[in-house]
Amino acid sequence: MNQGYFITFEGGDGSGKSTQIGRLKSYLENKGYDVILTREPGGTDIGEKIREIILDPNNKEMSDVTEAMLYAASRAQHVAEVIKPAIEAGKIVICDRFVDSSIAYQGYGRGLGDSVSIINSYAVDKYMPHKTFLLKLKPQAGSRRIEGREKDRIELEAQTFHQTVFEGYEALEKEFPERIVGIDASRTIEEIEAEIRKHIDELL
Ligand code: ADP
Ligand code: TYD
Repeated sequence: MNQGYFITFEGGDGSGKSTQIGRLKSYLENKGYDVILTREPGGTDIGEKIREIILDPNNKEMSDVTEAMLYAASRAQHVAEVIKPAIEAGKIVICDRFVDSSIAYQGYGRGLGDSVSIINSYAVDKYMPHKTFLLKLKPQAGSRRIEGREKDRIELEAQTFHQTVFEGYEALEKEFPERIVGIDASRTIEEIEAEIRKHIDELL
């Protein structure tokens, strides 16, 4: 049986994650791999319900710790129900955001620090990604790309919050250079796609 792989995409809102994930899925399927595409928060029925609570702009009173725990709860269900079984069955799981999002947004953005890793260690279990593509784009450029879209509770945060998240991602990239590949996401879709394929070919 093939070895399963777990690949995640990270980066600010509008950095191009969905675009690149769709292209990578087709690339791998054309090579004959069994690919599962999923996302966080969400990816399961329970996780999608939690997602609605977290992202609802009306939930203004949500405390930062509640927010971090809800993301972790959605992740725990996602790992148990989707990620773990797929990897163990030899599939390639591509996930739009994972635990690095919590460290960048809740750890850095909300200022919760190391407690976020501790909460998430229960959710992630031993299923850390084999490779993580970090699409690096200045927050102002990301917001310009998604200008017309309806904004969720996190996207509605001030630019200073998104700048801190960006710095959090850069710190993670330095801390885990083997796993996290930083990609300059200000280039064309095709240039970014080619760089991601190069890393994927090396991995597989
Ligand atoms: P994310 O999933 O990170 O929020 P998307 O893939 O949805 O980002 O991209 C946000 C918007 O930017 C979409 O309209 C998409 O077509 C566009 N986009 C994606 N990648 C690029 C790129 N490299 N250059 C310019 N526009 C892009
Ligand atoms: P997402 O659906 O990826 O938004 P988009 O497609 O617009 O990029 O994620 C929703 C929001 O949740 C996004 O602003 C990032 C935030 N988020 C966290 O703050 N912590 C987390 O652990 C995750 C997974 C997402």
